[in-house]
Amino acid sequence: MTVTDHRTPSADTAVAPHFAPVAGHIGAEVSDVDLTAPLTSAQVEALRAGLHRYKVLFFHDQPIDHAQQIAFSRHFGPVTASHPYDDDAPTEFPEILAVDNRNYEKKFGVKAASYTNEWHTDVTALVNPPAVTVLRSAIVPDRGGDTTWTNLAAAYAGLPEPLRELADGLRAEHRFGGRRPAFAAGSRYDEKVSRTPLVAEHPVVRVHPVTGERLLFVTPGFTHRIVGYSRRQSDALLDLLFDEVTNPAYTVRFRWRPDSLAIWDNRATAHLAPSDVNHLEIDRLLYRTTIEGDIPVGVDGTPSVAISGEQFTGS
Ligand SMILES: [Fe+2]
Repeated sequence: MTVTDHRTPSADTAVAPHFAPVAGHIGAEVSDVDLTAPLTSAQVEALRAGLHRYKVLFFHDQPIDHAQQIAFSRHFGPVTASHPYDDDAPTEFPEILAVDNRNYEKKFGVKAASYTNEWHTDVTALVNPPAVTVLRSAIVPDRGGDTTWTNLAAAYAGLPEPLRELADGLRAEHRFGGRRPAFAAGSRYDEKVSRTPLVAEHPVVRVHPVTGERLLFVTPGFTHRIVGYSRRQSDALLDLLFDEVTNPAYTVRFRWRPDSLAIWDNRATAHLAPSDVNHLEIDRLLYRTTIEGDIPVGVDGTPSVAISGEQFTGS
């Protein structure tokens, strides 16, 4: 008797993933791929190329579990522990960060529907922020609770040339909470951040190691100050740069359904949960994994520096 394993298609019979761009600068919905089954190397290559091109990829109707999410994530690099400050990861899956609004009050000292209400690139307080992030939805509200992403290459390109030249030479300090922390003073989170601070100095413009694109690598969620400028000058400069990073022209908005999945190039994007359901009684549960990142490099080749904390590596 011949046993055919329908879950491992050969490279030449698997259908190539189809990418349907959904906004002018960023984002594509992917179809013709089943994440509940192992992927062929050709499918993985296509998804990696699509990720670099569209920067965030969206999938629907992918009922995968924690182990399958971790296995999928590994196609994009070593998977890290859930988060430098997370102590809620499921015991068997220390890579999984539960983005669960039912825990926020205990964790952050604030009641909210989304993990943070500031535009941010994940964990840029690390000297090597994650290269890629994967987010899978389990419980989503009937309305709202979307996530938006912005294209940091488009934001850089959108600056007038004199500002691009200025930004090329700037360095900035990133720390949890940025200039205006979203977590409450004295909360569990605040205590953890104060006890073991993570602070890094990154180039304001980083060069993408794969695409070579210049990226405007500052966000309100983490960027605290521009190095070498007074507080007033730094605030004015950051306001100018954040304004470009968060320009709606460069963004895409994703409506979650149960069993949706988004994967983004965390080097080339920032994201935000718009907090449009904070006034409603809703539950929202998503599961995140992150891929070990490289140390960013500026236009002049100067790498980022850890001011406090170590590199965050995966396996
Ligand atoms: Fe995030």
